[in-house]
Amino acid sequence: MYTFKWLMCFSLFWITLTGTEAELSSDPLIVEIPNGKLRGKDIGHYFSYESIPYAEPPIGEHRFEAPQPYSHRFEGIFNATKPPVACLQWNQFGAKKLQGEEDCLTISIYKPKSKTRSSFPVVVLLHGGCFMFGGAALNGHKFIMQEGNLILVKISYRVGPLGFASTGDKDLPGNYGLKDQRLALQWIKQNIANFGGMSDNIVVLGHSAGGASAHLQLLHEDFSQLARAAISVSGNALDPWIFNQGHRGRAFELGRIVGCEQPKDSAELKNCLKSKPASEIVSAVQSFLIFSYVPFSPFGPVVEPEDAPDAFLTQDPVEVIKSGKFAQVPWAVTYTTEDGGYNAALLLEKNKTTGETWIETLNDRWFDWAPYLLFHRDPKKTIEDMDEISRNLRQQYLGDRRFSVESYWDVQRMFTDILFKNSVPSAIDLHRKHGKSPVYSFVYDNPAVTGVAQVLAKRSDVFFGTVHGDDFFLIFEFAPLGRRIRPDEKVISRKLIKMLEDFALSDKGALTFGDCVFQNNVNSKEYQVLRITENGCKNEQFDQFP
Ligand SMILES: *[C@@H]1O[C@H](CO)[C@@H](O)[C@H](O)[C@H]1NC(C)=O
Ligand SMILES: *[C@@H]1O[C@H](CO)[C@@H](O)[C@H](O)[C@H]1NC(C)=O
Repeated sequence: MYTFKWLMCFSLFWITLTGTEAELSSDPLIVEIPNGKLRGKDIGHYFSYESIPYAEPPIGEHRFEAPQPYSHRFEGIFNATKPPVACLQWNQFGAKKLQGEEDCLTISIYKPKSKTRSSFPVVVLLHGGCFMFGGAALNGHKFIMQEGNLILVKISYRVGPLGFASTGDKDLPGNYGLKDQRLALQWIKQNIANFGGMSDNIVVLGHSAGGASAHLQLLHEDFSQLARAAISVSGNALDPWIFNQGHRGRAFELGRIVGCEQPKDSAELKNCLKSKPASEIVSAVQSFLIFSYVPFSPFGPVVEPEDAPDAFLTQDPVEVIKSGKFAQVPWAVTYTTEDGGYNAALLLEKNKTTGETWIETLNDRWFDWAPYLLFHRDPKKTIEDMDEISRNLRQQYLGDRRFSVESYWDVQRMFTDILFKNSVPSAIDLHRKHGKSPVYSFVYDNPAVTGVAQVLAKRSDVFFGTVHGDDFFLIFEFAPLGRRIRPDEKVISRKLIKMLEDFALSDKGALTFGDCVFQNNVNSKEYQVLRITENGCKNEQFDQFP
């Protein structure tokens, strides 16, 4: 008996030994996962393994359905050297509006080279883009790979109508993009160790719609099995642009635009939409924009009905948080002091026909446009109710002044509060009342020279302050900005990346930035916010959110 056990031990030991030997001597570019072997690429100081499928292509019968895990064996060695393609989208940035491909559900992994270590903590990026556009490739990984202490995983998920069209019933329930993310997170948990990732040290990080996504993923209790912590940068599930009312009407309108005339029900609409070219469905986004890229999220998350198959979310996020049934993992929620430069700055562009800036036009069209700009449009509300919200907002931020370049700063303040900032104390309040895990917050206050606002306004003669992405794009460079990083920003960039690494590794769920230790909002009467500026960082406490 003992001999047998000992033999067992010995042979296990032997297998382990030879296994390690095989790994060490094998080609680091070749990684084996349950689907077979794949080959990545040597980029010099890091390795990349790109465009690995995690789901069946969401095309044909799989369009407008929950994603199915990719279960095929690779034929030969899978070529993981193709840069990730964006999911098919109507893009806000750049001249080419229709971009990407419908077959897009892939994961890309970037791993530092190191002589001294073979495993690394993991950061998963959920990209931003209003649930309408964006992609893994647009968020560069140069800075993180320069630091060389993290494995970075970027995922693609469906966006726009292909990711989020919903009739609000079980036949076309929506949230496909969020279901993609969740499947991808499960894939990462199961497979990342094969790439040298520490599967118990995963942080999920997102910006804007990606931040809201990280929050929504965290509202599933079992997220705690998929990740150790989450960070929502300038976007969380309580922002007013995440859940747009009226999705059922828009889904049928989408059908009408692409030639699905008068379907008798949602099932018929879905079947018809499945038969149309994806490019037509995505190009129809233009018809939902009243000017420029307004409203910026005509298709996005919805609360699905109870009977929806594979539902992602069947309750309003506020109700989920109140029920306490969400993952008890550390979470950070953040904003920038002038976050609302996205999308306010586009008001400084001119109507090409009249030469008038949109902000001037607002004087005549405030009541028409405000509900789209600030997301209080709701088919269940009366026009009078929406007008009252618009009137009060104008009064609160502008008083009797006109909309003009001179009053832009206050218009931008309004956008910041409504679209990104007011949700932060609301989320902190809810989480600390109904949860136990730490909730951290930071505000970034350090303007970039060229940020999203300058690109949208197409001008640099206006001071915008610290706008959406000014912090995040120090972690993931955003190509359309062509941004040069100042020395003070380089320091912040490195500290932010170190912050991610330490967060992934911390046993206690502690969060630090440089010399500053974040204070937990849970069990604190005051709001605890870390302010990050050009000169460093500072813990601040507030009775009233600033
Ligand atoms: C792998 O894909 C890349 C990029 O598409 C291509 O250039 C290369 O030739 C492929 N390699 C093999 C072995 O097929
Ligand atoms: C731009 O100006 C033209 C000419 O007055 C007008 O027809 C058009 O509606 C304007 N665009 C918007 C979105 O208001």
